[in-house]
Amino acid sequence: MDQNVLGLAGKPALVIGGGFGMGRASALLLARAGANVALADLIEERAQAVKKEVEAHGVRALALTGDVTDKAAAERIVAEAVKFHGSLEVLINMVGLATWNELMDTDEDAWEQQMLINLRHHLYIGRAAARQMIKQGGGGRMAFVASVSGIYGAPFHGAYGAAKAGLMSLTRTMANEWGPHNIRVNAVAPDVISTPRHPGNMNREQALDEGVLLGRMGQPEEIAGALVFFVSDLASFVTGQTLIVDGGVHAAFPHFSGIRAALQRSKQG
Ligand SMILES: NC(=O)c1ccc[n+]([C@@H]2O[C@H](COP(=O)([O-])OP(=O)(O)OC[C@H]3O[C@@H](n4cnc5c(N)ncnc54)[C@H](O)[C@@H]3O)[C@@H](O)[C@H]2O)c1
Repeated sequence: MDQNVLGLAGKPALVIGGGFGMGRASALLLARAGANVALADLIEERAQAVKKEVEAHGVRALALTGDVTDKAAAERIVAEAVKFHGSLEVLINMVGLATWNELMDTDEDAWEQQMLINLRHHLYIGRAAARQMIKQGGGGRMAFVASVSGIYGAPFHGAYGAAKAGLMSLTRTMANEWGPHNIRVNAVAPDVISTPRHPGNMNREQALDEGVLLGRMGQPEEIAGALVFFVSDLASFVTGQTLIVDGGVHAAFPHFSGIRAALQRSKQG
């Protein structure tokens, strides 16, 4: 039996936003695959708690704290992870936050804040990590968390949608510029994942009505699965891609529920 089918055993990894939800799930999945994990979070207690959970898998862990929207803090976090591991091969960054506002009510500050928390820090962190990976030689793997709001129109959260669309573009550009150094860069676009920030909590009937083909909301672990796939050897020829992970919502016509309702009416009548 191949114990290291993902090729992650012993790899030096950094997970940003690793203290909670999808980030915590990613840190734990990397640990189960044998990677050593530095994890960073805005909230120190969260980072410390997940560090202990990671160590319980028998790998090395480091808890870091800082606000990655601050360039100096973002670069320090990467530098401290490199110091801890001696190198860096895997980066997962899932920090992002949606605010809800119509475009008419979105002022410059709100717009800039959304660009900062959803887009700009990916440049700071990705670039610092890539510099290290290029210096080491041998390449690296990065995975980010975008959103379906960056693929479709994003009514009432247009700044967030524009920033996530920017992140998917940045992912492709990083893949282009750093591919020759064997650095792969990909993104996951979640929808209907059950996290405290998600506006709706659906039962089976509601989920099916909303077009979630699997009839339920997703779990943070199901985003971690896609992120860890991207940074694993299984994705060794995949770069510049965004994978939608949404229980099938976006596999149907946008007007699917209307069609289904019309078919049901015609069956009844
Ligand atoms: N839940 C969904 O259905 C859904 C859909 C699409 C996209 N997303 C994306 O998924 C990602 C995770 O969302 P979430 O609601 O689970 O995240 P969250 O707000 O719970 O944050 C996760 C962790 O990141 C940390 N963090 C936040 N800001 C930080 C900063 N500036 N510096 C360092 N750490 C910071 C938080 O403390 C937290 O522990 C986001 O990028 C979000 O846009 C979620």
